[in-house]
Amino acid sequence: MKKILILIILIVTGCSTEQKLKKTISYDSYEEYEVNQNSPEKVKMTVQIFDNFFKELSNELLNSIKNQGLVKTISICKKVSPNLAEKFSKESNIRVYRISDKNRNPMNKPSIDEQMVLEIWKKRVSDGKKISAVYFTTDDNKTKVMRPIKIMGDLCLQCHGEPEKMNPELLKEIKKEYPEDKAINYKLDELRGAFVAEF
Ligand code: HEC
Repeated sequence: MKKILILIILIVTGCSTEQKLKKTISYDSYEEYEVNQNSPEKVKMTVQIFDNFFKELSNELLNSIKNQGLVKTISICKKVSPNLAEKFSKESNIRVYRISDKNRNPMNKPSIDEQMVLEIWKKRVSDGKKISAVYFTTDDNKTKVMRPIKIMGDLCLQCHGEPEKMNPELLKEIKKEYPEDKAINYKLDELRGAFVAEF
């Protein structure tokens, strides 16, 4: 009986989360919540933060590849990525992070609402529609802004592409640092994940 009750509670709360989200963001209402000129100031500000986050991360990545080589960059990336996320969160007082359904670092696993947005984006892409930054209200009345991250070139594929085409030493290093890695087998232009800001 107790077990059934817990199950019912789980189903009911699970459903309400989904339904509330569907009300705030769904495939059809997507356009309404796209970040644009009319979005609240703070929402627009997060997009600027994503830009800076991306720029600094790319610079660190490129510098490290140049100075330490591709293989060593993995352990550097492991430190630098979360450090930069923390730095931008502290500076702005807005929690900023990256997520992916096929994550390399299990800490970057999406929440239920973030996963829903990823699914909406994937459907839009397969329907030939464009995707861009969106925002919505979470169950606990916070605002989340999400911007898609795509595989944008050969650089990304070197570490997230088909394992057969990747440097074997690099692959070994990835497996060592991230035994649960799911972030391979991507193709050019594929949706890789998202920047998320929560406030
Ligand atoms: C040198 C190898 C390397 C290159 C090149 C690289 N990445 Fe990554 N990527 C990593 C590592 C390592 C992580 C895990 C970082 C961590 O621990 O937070 C990661 C994590 C990510 C994440 C966070 C989600 C997750 O899977 O944990 C995204 C999104 C991402 N990469 C996208 C990209 C994109 C887009 C490019 C190309 C612009 C790119 N990466 C290039 C190694 C690389």
